[in-house]
Amino acid sequence: MRRWCTEEPTHFVLVGRREDTLRAISEDLVTRGCDGTEASIHVGAFRDSEEVAATVAGALEHGRPDIALVAFGSLPEQAVVSATASALTEALEVNGVWPALCAQLLFNALREEGAGRIVLLGSVAGDRGRRSNYAYGAAKSLLATFAAGLAHAAVGTGVSVSLVKPGPTDTPMTRGAGTRGRLAAPDDVARTIVAGVARKQPVIYAPPRWRVIMAIIRALPGPLFDRLDI
Ligand SMILES: NC(=O)c1ccc[n+]([C@@H]2O[C@H](COP(=O)([O-])OP(=O)(O)OC[C@H]3O[C@@H](n4cnc5c(N)ncnc54)[C@H](OP(=O)(O)O)[C@@H]3O)[C@@H](O)[C@H]2O)c1
Repeated sequence: MRRWCTEEPTHFVLVGRREDTLRAISEDLVTRGCDGTEASIHVGAFRDSEEVAATVAGALEHGRPDIALVAFGSLPEQAVVSATASALTEALEVNGVWPALCAQLLFNALREEGAGRIVLLGSVAGDRGRRSNYAYGAAKSLLATFAAGLAHAAVGTGVSVSLVKPGPTDTPMTRGAGTRGRLAAPDDVARTIVAGVARKQPVIYAPPRWRVIMAIIRALPGPLFDRLDI
């Protein structure tokens, strides 16, 4: 987020479910951000559509954002969600349904202003279902189709919609998940996101090499794909 500080004083509104975490991030932004950076927090809940709508409405009371970033999500173990109906439902809601609802509510508000950028965190996992994480991937795929349709609906409104598709990145989400392979540095991913949003790119792969990797994975014929342990 610090990468969105500008020479103009920047006001961040941090929205989430844990006050202590939001306070820690806001103090860090003010301490390490540009001169004049301010940060407010808004604590809300995300367990059903009424709570999500109330959380977005409460956040918007702090003012209409120039950039609204929807970045919550969780990476459950596929084996757990495969075996537990409530965990599967939650994985689909937290990674797909609730972010889509946030995006729609933000769009409805920003369209009235005729300006603003909505940035949604999808994932490369949404590009092709894989046995190792198809619940999470399906939710991100829902979000990708939703973002594409919302971007289409936004044409001519002054509002832009960008979907970010990060590859595996070194964050708390992957630290506990036993993710294999090289993890991208969060700052590299952040730099790619900020540049892509400035260009109003509808889909931002971060790091950019994932655009090519996923084009190849999507193009693999079924019998070959079935033999991959991914
Ligand atoms: N890291 C990766 O490799 C990777 C790759 C592709 C896409 N992404 C996506 O990037 C976004 C950011 O993830 P991250 O890597 O920064 O992970 P992170 O550090 O674990 O952040 C996830 C955030 O989502 C919030 N969250 C989780 N479950 C929630 C729930 N039920 N209700 C409300 N908030 C909830 C967490 O809040 P608390 O602090 O309250 O738990 C946390 O702030 C996510 O959408 C993720 O799917 C990440």
